[in-house]
Amino acid sequence: MSTASLPANPDPSPGPQHIAIIMDGNGRWAKARRLPRVAGHRRGADAVRKIIRGAGELGVPVLTLFAFSTENWTRPADEVSDLMGLLRHYLRNELEELGRNGARLRVIGDRDRLARDIVRDIADAETRTRSNTRIDVNICINYGSRDEILRATRNLARRVAAGEIAADRIDEAAFERELLTAGVPDPDLLIRTSGEQRISNFLLWQCAYAEFVFVDTLWPDFGKEHLEQAIAEFRKRERRYGGVGT
Ligand code: FPP
Repeated sequence: MSTASLPANPDPSPGPQHIAIIMDGNGRWAKARRLPRVAGHRRGADAVRKIIRGAGELGVPVLTLFAFSTENWTRPADEVSDLMGLLRHYLRNELEELGRNGARLRVIGDRDRLARDIVRDIADAETRTRSNTRIDVNICINYGSRDEILRATRNLARRVAAGEIAADRIDEAAFERELLTAGVPDPDLLIRTSGEQRISNFLLWQCAYAEFVFVDTLWPDFGKEHLEQAIAEFRKRERRYGGVGT
């Protein structure tokens, strides 16, 4: 699909190349309106659409969204089912919109526990968006960082036991190749909405040097202007990577 009609990036100075977002506050958004929690998640899905478009317009090359964690299975069964229904609906109905935004979709997480039709929809969505080049959109579904790190460790241990790799040869690059995010650059900026200030088992390895921006806005109310404000805050930060800076 053509992206020729999209507006050019309005600010050429370097911003974050990868923004990761913990989308929080759907339940509180609904509660404040005396609506069922699923209404908050539905509005959350609308916000996902707006933020993907907005991030593309702002020239952000990689966006990663935390949609469902390995811990979210402990929510009431009807809420889990609502969230899975929304994800299913999104994967089946947003492909044209993703194409209009030049968005290439990748789903990050353990697919083994997902329903078979969702696993098929994920594969189909990834295939059908793979030629889009404006923005990489990673959606984390059944993702947990400790689980990911344990799997990487087990895989490397098996390879050491099989004599394929020497233990001393395991460096950061070798470890990263075993993570679910293999090939994705580390986030520069991590945003969490709704006023909570936690990382909640999200991209623990990958966020080693990310700048964190916490905003009070609930996820369903989070729009392009909030993303721009977070990017402006990021630009004010001095990143030292453990050094002394300038
Ligand atoms: C956290 O809010 C949000 C979630 C656990 C789910 C995120 C899901 C969406 C944004 C919608 C579906 C996503 C896609 C990609 C279509 P919460 O429910 O924990 O809110 P609360 O802390 O206010 O209760």
